[in-house]
Amino acid sequence: MPVPIIIDCDPGHDDALAIMLAAGDPAVELLGITTVAGNQTLAKTTLNARRVCTVAGITGVPIAAGCAKPLVQALDVADDVHGASGLDGPRFPEPTVDAVPGHAVDLMYRILTGHPEPVTLVPTAPLTNIALLLTRHPDAATCIREIVLMGGSSERGNRTPAAEFNVRTDPEAADIVFRSGVPVTMCGLNVTHQALATPEVVARFERLGTDLGRICAELLTFFASTYRTLWGFPSPPLHDPVAVARVIDPDIVHCVEGNVVVELNGRYTRGATVVDLHRYTGRPVNAQVAVRLEADLFWDRMVAAVTVLGDRPSR
Ligand code: BDR
Ligand code: CA
Repeated sequence: MPVPIIIDCDPGHDDALAIMLAAGDPAVELLGITTVAGNQTLAKTTLNARRVCTVAGITGVPIAAGCAKPLVQALDVADDVHGASGLDGPRFPEPTVDAVPGHAVDLMYRILTGHPEPVTLVPTAPLTNIALLLTRHPDAATCIREIVLMGGSSERGNRTPAAEFNVRTDPEAADIVFRSGVPVTMCGLNVTHQALATPEVVARFERLGTDLGRICAELLTFFASTYRTLWGFPSPPLHDPVAVARVIDPDIVHCVEGNVVVELNGRYTRGATVVDLHRYTGRPVNAQVAVRLEADLFWDRMVAAVTVLGDRPSR
């Protein structure tokens, strides 16, 4: 039986491919897509989710917009990484897939409480919506099988020297999630930097010969250009689909138990995830921490999902 999931995202190039992986892989059932402000404003991330669903032929999956700003601090978007639109690179047609009315948190709560079995949440964005869900609806926790998130790092950051973007954008929300008692798996930069979209990977999408394959190649090419300029990466890391891959097949993303806390006050380290994998602190295990990616298996699943979705030949 496919694992039922909801993706909470801020598309974003890697979020776009995370949505495609979730919709195209038979091991998961995508029940909903919720959006949040992060890589770009809420209006843009929601438009981008609709664009992705339109070009990937994902219909019948409700999309709902959530929080327009982090819980406490002001929004600081990642236009340096994802461009002015949040999804720069390809030209997208006018979206034909709409968002549903109502707040993302209400959609998540409705899906969670209406589903016959617990649902896995896959946040690939700042955790504002998830924190709001857990605080507004404490009873939702029992309907969540686990939270498998892209965020944080057991090493260094990418927004500040210490902090990863999703956690740095809303540290208070991340703190709520890691302290919630809901089982959490953290796919941080230390593992997502093993998912490198090399030129060979981009060529695999081009060779599919479909509009969707071409769009993926264009997304990855734009992403590569900003990663090269900002960080000197020869190939960009495709963060967000790693969290989806962990749900699809845990053997693709290896984890170890640990304790994760979020630094809220550090003078230089606000938003850092302090990851204890060695019991230094005596703090209890509160997360599975992803440490190693089977990169070949990961890309095989990613390309297979785009193959399934992109059944329209290129013109
Ligand atoms: C995370 O930040 C965003 O820019 C990406 O979409 C990903 O979710 C990586 O730090
Ligand atoms: Ca993201």
